[in-house]
Amino acid sequence: MIETFEELNPSPRLLMGPGPVNCDPRVLRAMSMPMLGQFDPEFTRYMNETMALLRQVFQTRNRWSFLVNGTARPGIEALLTSLVAPGDRVLVPVFGRFGHLLCEIAHRCRADVRAIHAEWGTVFPPERIEEAVREHRPKLVALVHGDTSTTMAQPLAEIGAICRRHDALLFVDATATLGGMDVRTDEWSLDAVSAGLQKCLSGRPGSSPVTLGERAADAANRRKHIEEGITPEGFQPGDGPVIQSNYFDLPMLFDYWSESRLNHHTEATSMLYAARECARILLKEGLPAAFARHRLASAALTAGLEAMGLEIFGDARHRMANVTGVVILDGIDGEAVRRDLLENFGIEIGSSFGPLKGRIWRIGTMGYNCRKQNVLICLGALEATLLRHGAHLPAGAAVRAALAVYSTPEAQGRAH
Ligand SMILES: Cc1ncc(COP(=O)(O)O)c(C=O)c1O
Repeated sequence: MIETFEELNPSPRLLMGPGPVNCDPRVLRAMSMPMLGQFDPEFTRYMNETMALLRQVFQTRNRWSFLVNGTARPGIEALLTSLVAPGDRVLVPVFGRFGHLLCEIAHRCRADVRAIHAEWGTVFPPERIEEAVREHRPKLVALVHGDTSTTMAQPLAEIGAICRRHDALLFVDATATLGGMDVRTDEWSLDAVSAGLQKCLSGRPGSSPVTLGERAADAANRRKHIEEGITPEGFQPGDGPVIQSNYFDLPMLFDYWSESRLNHHTEATSMLYAARECARILLKEGLPAAFARHRLASAALTAGLEAMGLEIFGDARHRMANVTGVVILDGIDGEAVRRDLLENFGIEIGSSFGPLKGRIWRIGTMGYNCRKQNVLICLGALEATLLRHGAHLPAGAAVRAALAVYSTPEAQGRAH
């Protein structure tokens, strides 16, 4: 029997969680452009342009700035799998769920994983990381920049220098911050960074921008092996162990993204168009302007939530500028509130994981969604929902407080 279903007709939603967020319509348009063959000169030009745009987004001169196909996790896996050989020691400072993810991926690389832990809602002082690097002598330090599970952002400015002093590589997961907060790859000596499109880059999940400096590229190239059948004449493999994954083998990806265009996978054409458009839109706005827009939305959202009498989660000095943790009021069923927001207003906000499950909501103001009207709509809807659930709130105060932030002289003249 043949079974068919109704045509796809997803309900319109305002995605105010920790990502994915609504996609910029210009990115959707780019995704619908005609297919090109992967070695068509027009397509390889788009590949080169994407690399040039990504270098600017990552604030780097790194030659190797390109895309790994898949969501954000494949970017992490490609970097860790290619940089970490079995038995290599990896240090992971864990301050939320995504630090645990880095440990898990490093374990699967059969690394000797050493983790240090900070309480969820805090980050690491640089001295604590240096102390651990001195003690464990890792080959690589793997660190999340903005951990969406706790809404905390780890300051990075000093960590690269620490790793250089102790001859360790530094990998940073900037999935949730790239495009919304400063990620200065070169200035901060970050050896390898990965991200995703579906958060502050205003795209859809399915492509992971990555960048690697020379130290990281050299480490990967020492493990370079090429598939039989396409090996160029005279090729000498690296003396390091073969990278366990074919798809995530960075030296083979270098060849694919360089002028030698050695065949690897079939590039995900529409996702490359999307990533190119995401980066182009962001750079047209300008990185400082985009970061300021995220800070402003976060300040307005925070003012509105506090005016409702809600407590903001985590160390105020280290909050991400694009996801805000809100402590769920005593006596309020957090999941029922989320459900009502979705059913009555079409608005999605996030819950959290592990020790924060049922304790906080996470409200994202990211990328294309990071705008005044969305902040106001979300606050108004949350207030109405909480009142319906019996919370005692000063009605109307939240939107008024957020509007006051948007009316300050500093906010004037900024894109909202
Ligand atoms: C900090 C961080 N790292 C990694 C990921 C995993 O990304 P993906 O689900 O796109 O594979 C996420 C997703 O929320 C994230 O926030």
